[in-house]
Amino acid sequence: MERLIPPTRSLRGILRVPGDKSVTHRGLILASLAQGESTLYYPLKAGDTLSTAQAMRQLGADIREEGAHFHIRGVGLRLQEPGDVLDCGNAGTLIRLLAGVLAGQEMFAVLSGDASLRRRPMGRVTTPLRQMGARIEGRDNGRLAPLAIRGGGLSGIHYELPVASAQVKSTVLLAGLFADEDTEVVEPAPTRDHTERAFRHYGLPLEVEGNLVRTRRADPFPARDLVVPGDISSAAFFLVAALITPDSEVTLEGVGLNPTRTGLLTVLKEMGADLEWAVTEGQAGEPVGWIRARSSALKGISVDPRLIPLMVDEVPVLAAAAAWAEGQTYIPNLEELRVKESDRLTAIAQNLQNLGVRVEAGPDWLRIWGGGVSPGVVQPFHDHRIAMAFAVCGLPCGVRVLEAEWASISFPSFWEDLAQLAQTP
Ligand code: S3P
Repeated sequence: MERLIPPTRSLRGILRVPGDKSVTHRGLILASLAQGESTLYYPLKAGDTLSTAQAMRQLGADIREEGAHFHIRGVGLRLQEPGDVLDCGNAGTLIRLLAGVLAGQEMFAVLSGDASLRRRPMGRVTTPLRQMGARIEGRDNGRLAPLAIRGGGLSGIHYELPVASAQVKSTVLLAGLFADEDTEVVEPAPTRDHTERAFRHYGLPLEVEGNLVRTRRADPFPARDLVVPGDISSAAFFLVAALITPDSEVTLEGVGLNPTRTGLLTVLKEMGADLEWAVTEGQAGEPVGWIRARSSALKGISVDPRLIPLMVDEVPVLAAAAAWAEGQTYIPNLEELRVKESDRLTAIAQNLQNLGVRVEAGPDWLRIWGGGVSPGVVQPFHDHRIAMAFAVCGLPCGVRVLEAEWASISFPSFWEDLAQLAQTP
């Protein structure tokens, strides 16, 4: 499906973005493992997280939609052997975190997904899980899905993550809940800590010492309600949209402001963005608040490489902002973007070029010459964040977006929300 975005004069309003994707995945998985019933309030209901709900149902959890919420009856740590392949769709977080859980279960299960997911690297989770004692087979000796897992009999490990990845950290920690002895994970750089916060929320074993996280075998734990904050990765599209469109002011409410997710705010501020935010409450150990963005004269900068893991999903929309800034923007430390839902480094460079922007792409960096874009065609490469980021990039001049339906992987109401805020001539 194609979407024609008309030239947008101004963007104004207040919006509540859908629930956080990372927190929803973790809430669905942990509430399914808990003992008893709980409600997951305001979860993200989108392609990726509906895949998680479906997989957990196949594993024995009772998950019912109740209005905007999910009502979940958990199994008390012991899942049921699934009768069929668990289809993880497009969701990297699901296949990796679930591999950690299944490694701890005395049963057989197969995980697969769509064409994009079957190209993404799984060696990063199968290597530590095999070291813990799980039997895992997969294409290319376990480096690619489908993955066939026969779990159980795990021992704890001390694992130094070779990449800064919250998914891999979480996979090993989840497996650690079923292992004899302690499991320790050391991160090369801080990444999102939703799993750690969720473990604390559910009363699961957890100790954090600097960049080391430790857990151990869990006893059956009682179910607890969890309120999911708005997704800052979804908010990011409207923030940048307001910054680059004249005469704009957009406020996003109920957004998760976990400091391991706010790298984009720091970078945009350094670019000269008129951006304000405040934490107003806490929900299940996650800080929540509002963010306001107004039209700004942005300037290009050299981005601090240490911030990239704290904004890994926001690089496409940062590139959109850079295209409208004055001068050059250099973004380093982008190796991980090559293995997201698409090769995002290539997808960003290609779409900037489609919109008339000068860009240079290295193996793990981008250099973008700002100054504005011209009307053109956005090619999402089957990637939700590329579709939304470049729709935003083309907003002031108008743009045609191919494969617009991919937005529904993480943000089903994106096009309607955008139209609601936009004032067109
Ligand atoms: C996620 C972690 C990130 C991110 C993904 C969600 C998570 O991946 O890109 O969209 O929920 O843990 P990596 O940790 O592999 O970088």
